[in-house]
Amino acid sequence: MSFTEFRSAEFSASANATEQVTIQSLQDKKSQGTPIVALTAYDYATARVVDEAGVDVLLVGDSLAMVVMGYETTLPVTVEEMLLHTRAVRRAVSRAMLVADLPFGSYQVNAEDGVATATRFLKEAGAQAVKIEGGTPSREQLVKRLTEAEIPVVAHLGLTPQSIHKMSGYRVQAKSLQEINQLIRDALALEAAGAFAIVLEAIPDEVARRITAALHIPTIGIGAGPDCDGQVLVSYDLLGLFDSFVPSFVKRYAQLGDTIGKAVTEYAHDVRRGAFPKAPADERDTSRPIPLESVG
Ligand code: KIV
Repeated sequence: MSFTEFRSAEFSASANATEQVTIQSLQDKKSQGTPIVALTAYDYATARVVDEAGVDVLLVGDSLAMVVMGYETTLPVTVEEMLLHTRAVRRAVSRAMLVADLPFGSYQVNAEDGVATATRFLKEAGAQAVKIEGGTPSREQLVKRLTEAEIPVVAHLGLTPQSIHKMSGYRVQAKSLQEINQLIRDALALEAAGAFAIVLEAIPDEVARRITAALHIPTIGIGAGPDCDGQVLVSYDLLGLFDSFVPSFVKRYAQLGDTIGKAVTEYAHDVRRGAFPKAPADERDTSRPIPLESVG
């Protein structure tokens, strides 16, 4: 079955297959118990396929620092780099909501920087919302400021990769009772500050379930169990394109790394043995030289 046929069967039949995803439609999904599907994308070609496949939220995640740029953490990616990728994805997307991560250092120092940077993502790159990590009082303040500036915000709690050094590595969060209570308080405070959704990363399923039940806004889980209002994955993990670090909760739906490797090996083999390119039969007829004036 081709992609178009599969998509038709699975998605196009639904009433909202072409409707632009909005904050309200995500909220409706939570109320109706319809899972929200979110995925990262970093470039035009992939984003087009992902949008056409019916993903609801497309996140230009700062994970691009690792999976696209090859850094060991998400910390080095810059605002300009994130803007570049967000613009590319914007050109591809017509249905999904486009959310961009504010990169490390662009909002932690003060709220003014955060609002100014977030404004650029909406104005210069066409993002419809930004995502920020963490749940401290200053982060709640920033969510409030962004919301007042008409910039929709997705919050991100649990394992927040921009805090990797403070957290001593990528590890499951909210294990002690104290941490669980703090996480629930943070989630409620971010909702009260104006966040319209919260990503919950690498926390116990039961904690994610409790937070999801306590909030009016949708939760989108990654390594947080099945009881969130939606799920998000890093597309390169799902597609089998990134092997350096694969979290245990990832399900590989394809092995594109292998597919690309095989295709390129075959191409190289064909070039080396003279099998590519193959000129059409009449052009290979050397008894009829091509007149010079017809060239170029
Ligand atoms: O940067 C990213 O890709 C993310 C997702 C993992 C939620 O923040």
